[in-house]
Amino acid sequence: MKRMLSGIKPTGQLHLGNYIGALRHFVENQEEYEMIAFIANLHCITVPQDPDELRKNLRDCVALYLACGLDPKKSTIFLQTDVMEHAQLGFIINCHTYLGELNRMTQFKDKQAKGEKNLSGGLYTYPALMAADILIYDADYVPVGEDQKQHVELCRDVAIRMNNRYGELFRVPEPAVPKVGARIMSLSDPSKKMSKSDTLGDKGCIYLLDPLPKARKKIMSAKTDSLGIVHFDPENQPGISNLMQILSSLTGESMDAIEKEFEGKGYGDFKKAVANAVCDTLEKIQTRYNEILESDIIDTTLREGAEKARAMASKKLDQVQRAIGMEIR
Ligand code: TYM
Repeated sequence: MKRMLSGIKPTGQLHLGNYIGALRHFVENQEEYEMIAFIANLHCITVPQDPDELRKNLRDCVALYLACGLDPKKSTIFLQTDVMEHAQLGFIINCHTYLGELNRMTQFKDKQAKGEKNLSGGLYTYPALMAADILIYDADYVPVGEDQKQHVELCRDVAIRMNNRYGELFRVPEPAVPKVGARIMSLSDPSKKMSKSDTLGDKGCIYLLDPLPKARKKIMSAKTDSLGIVHFDPENQPGISNLMQILSSLTGESMDAIEKEFEGKGYGDFKKAVANAVCDTLEKIQTRYNEILESDIIDTTLREGAEKARAMASKKLDQVQRAIGMEIR
């Protein structure tokens, strides 16, 4: 069985972009692949965090993994820091990653270009840690949204480099980026990615735990255009095209079918359909989330997941350290 691995960094609450671009694919793929899904809490601290908020977001993230349908019997679910081998391999990978490669990573460059102050060394080198997260489990595929593809490509380059130098150490993974919904845009500014750090307040971002009326309101006030045609054209109609991507991802309808359905109808009707699809999805997730919080499934899942993950990770770390010549016993 081929292995898939991915993670989410809950520096804030999980949002619809995380769900459509990544999380739902973890769930869909757990039938066909050996799925490893972790919560990237080391990655979280690459940007400043409030400890209480972080603790809550981490717990919510596990609860949401389960509420969205990840099944601990089929998937390995754990907290990154419960498997310390990630950090150790992370350092080793860091030592095999060139500064030029890190300098090309657009996420860091974007933050720097925005003039954000006091960016940390951890943020700069986090693609190396991410590569370790993937390589330590010999993952075949990495389901991610568009913004993480560059990091998986860097991971491939470093894996190939280390394999050439030390012999076959790592499986070289492939990014699995969805055809539709790999980059869900902000509802208030469709030229920007939907993100936890939306600068226009939270109007542009739908959180998985948003109360349904709030989520509906965000969709109904999403920025569109004055053309009045429901047509997929990301360049000229970015707002409408983004809503179409959301609808298509959640209902499975093609862009053509959506265009036909709303031919001659106004944006109001279209937005209502998108809001209904989003609220249906959120309602199911939230009902399950509330049940999960009342049970002890989170702790059991993390404990059992970490045990399974640790067994795989420690073997690989040992193999790597031996190949490099770091072990003397
Ligand atoms: P993170 O936490 O920023 O995002 C988690 C996943 O959600 C996807 N995503 C989106 N997809 C579509 N539209 C959007 N607006 C959107 N925003 C986010 C991301 O592409 C990602 O797949 N470094 C990673 C976490 C990580 C990881 C890993 C992932 C750490 N180690 C190893 C895969 C493998 C991150 O910060 O994702």
